[in-house]
Amino acid sequence: MTQKKQAGILGLGAYLPERILTNADLEKMVDTSDEWIRTRTGIRERRIAEKGTATSDLAVKASLEAIQNSGLKPSDLDLIILATVTPDMIFPSTACILQNKIGATCPAFDLSAACSGFTYGLALAEGLIRSETYKHILVVGAEVISGFINWKDRSTCVLFGDGAGAAVIGETHDGHGILATYMGSDGSQARLLQIPAGGSAIPPSISSIETGLHYVQMDGAEVFKSAVRTMGDAIQEITKRAHLTIQGIDCLIPHQANLRILNAVSDRTKIPIEKIFVNLDRYGNMSAASTIVALYEAVKEGKIKKGSTVVMVAFGSGLTWAACALRW
Ligand SMILES: CC(C)(COP(=O)(O)OP(=O)(O)OC[C@H]1O[C@@H](n2cnc3c(N)ncnc32)[C@H](O)[C@@H]1OP(=O)(O)O)[C@@H](O)C(=O)NCCC(=O)NCCS
Repeated sequence: MTQKKQAGILGLGAYLPERILTNADLEKMVDTSDEWIRTRTGIRERRIAEKGTATSDLAVKASLEAIQNSGLKPSDLDLIILATVTPDMIFPSTACILQNKIGATCPAFDLSAACSGFTYGLALAEGLIRSETYKHILVVGAEVISGFINWKDRSTCVLFGDGAGAAVIGETHDGHGILATYMGSDGSQARLLQIPAGGSAIPPSISSIETGLHYVQMDGAEVFKSAVRTMGDAIQEITKRAHLTIQGIDCLIPHQANLRILNAVSDRTKIPIEKIFVNLDRYGNMSAASTIVALYEAVKEGKIKKGSTVVMVAFGSGLTWAACALRW
């Protein structure tokens, strides 16, 4: 019997806008405090893209680094999957805009799974590599979410930030690469976290803008509970699918929404908090960019080494959740 190909990450890239918005800056914008934000979320600062910056602009920088680190050229790519909730425009896809900006010629499309988007993209890319449909797939998570935040709403504006990360997926050998993937959704909970207007349900109008329906709206307490439950369950499921044990996980790369969520996931799964990579203190929640930027930094900081067992886990609007186990 012929062994199926194994897929894995060939190169990583990330890009964070230079402008830093601190909790002290937010104190001047809304009725909040550094102490409240730090103790309730763990966030100290976030990056905000300059006015006029599109999601594809951040994606270009992360993608070119990932392509270079994989030893490839943009013309070697067979497919681009770009996960975002803040596309450059409704159509064409941001993936097509990125394709043109980096000088690639392959098919390209956007993937909408909110904060789980990058991990969904990894699952899709893995299947397409293993089935030998494509050889080199660029998976990107990129957001300029700052344009969709009501900067007068203290319950949401302190949480989010802009950024981008990218990975080139291709064939890997000797047991290194993606061990298993898992995706889940529950559309009955869609109302918990959404941007209600701007699509076909509520097309843009003066009234939709005046009532703030183009901004992120969230039931924070319910989202919190769902995040802990679904990420905890996804970790159990991916551990089973990859034939791992909880003790065998060297590094957990979770979606970076709230440090209290990560502490609760640690309690629920018994993964020690020291094994959970955290960078949300510096970037806040970057939606689809969060897990890939965290993976990039964990590798750079030496928290993930050759042979490490890594689990990525994400949760977001939809509701969606996803996990991926890798041997580095
Ligand atoms: C949003 C979140 C931080 C709120 O924390 P919390 O401890 O649940 O706080 P509550 O919502 O109970 O609010 C407590 C009080 O703080 C206030 N508050 C909310 N935001 C505030 C802020 N930035 N500064 C100061 N006070 C704030 C609320 O108005 C509320 O006041 P009240 O009791 O007078 O009504 C938390 O629910 C959360 O992180 N949820 C998940 C969000 C998330 O991860 N979203 C993305 C998922 S992909």
